[in-house]
Amino acid sequence: MANNLTDTPPVCDYEGSDYRTRFWENQGREYEDLTERIALQRLMPPTGDTLIEIGAGFGRLADEYRGYKRVVLFDYSRTLLREAQQILGDDPKFIYVAGDWYKMPFVDGLFDTLVQIRTIHHAADVPTLFQQLARIIRPKGNYVLEFANKQNLKAMLRYMLGKQKWSPYTHEPVEFVELNFDFHPKYIQEQLRHVEFEPEQILTTSHYRIGFLKRTIPTSFLVWLDSLVQFTGKWWQLTPSVFIHSLSPTSGKLSEPDQFFACPECATPLQTMSESVLHCSTCDLDWGCDKGLYDFKEPIPSKS
Ligand SMILES: C[S@@+](CC[C@H](N)C(=O)[O-])C[C@H]1O[C@@H](n2cnc3c(N)ncnc32)[C@H](O)[C@@H]1O
Repeated sequence: MANNLTDTPPVCDYEGSDYRTRFWENQGREYEDLTERIALQRLMPPTGDTLIEIGAGFGRLADEYRGYKRVVLFDYSRTLLREAQQILGDDPKFIYVAGDWYKMPFVDGLFDTLVQIRTIHHAADVPTLFQQLARIIRPKGNYVLEFANKQNLKAMLRYMLGKQKWSPYTHEPVEFVELNFDFHPKYIQEQLRHVEFEPEQILTTSHYRIGFLKRTIPTSFLVWLDSLVQFTGKWWQLTPSVFIHSLSPTSGKLSEPDQFFACPECATPLQTMSESVLHCSTCDLDWGCDKGLYDFKEPIPSKS
């Protein structure tokens, strides 16, 4: 039995987190939420077969995916996925999966759309993450990524005034707090091309993320102003938040219709043993599903 689990980069763990109530609910972030939805709607095909949101949290954006037949909400935090389950109810289109994005538990070429918003800032190893995404996406699939931009106006100003040591102009990621990174737009594009994703369109969001403006200008008007200038992302990116849409190559693997989950350790397609057990014949590991939540964070004790 080969069940020595492989090491992966560190994870920013939201298990037990109050992220929804602490960060979103009644926290004055309607402007950010609405501008992100507009950018997502502009970049993501509205309908399709199978979509995954990577780092979906409590499913804040799940209602944007109603045009898809199957929607995987994937996150490391079981707690947040349970909240998503409660909020979204029994809609069978939603599939809740706990796991680590460095070990995606899906077969090759499964998804036609990947979405990742407000999460890559927790990625200590972007190349490994992108390799996984390139494996699970279908040929000519869509990847919509939002990332925290290190080359934003505030960082440029702070750097000029000597209030910040790191340069917003150099391409390497900056870890400003442990497991929290800002990225240069050029770095993200380089890494995407490295796995043969082709960046197509860039939008900038949160142009007016300034406390004074958010307090004095009606949110709907500020959101409208933001929506007008998001397209300038094609030429320059100076906002704290940037969206980028990429396409995967036209050639590549397409999953078999009857396959879905794969072993997070070795990527072998898993066999369904029962409603609650999936088995990897290569590693001889069992993976569980409890009350609608597939869990690939650690294997369950084998019954055999
Ligand atoms: C700031 S929250 C964003 C949640 C959601 N995208 C949103 O915008 O509301 C970041 C999410 O990334 C998830 N995450 C961080 N590292 C992860 C990893 N290695 N694998 C899967 N999810 C991860 C966290 O559990 C958390 O739910």
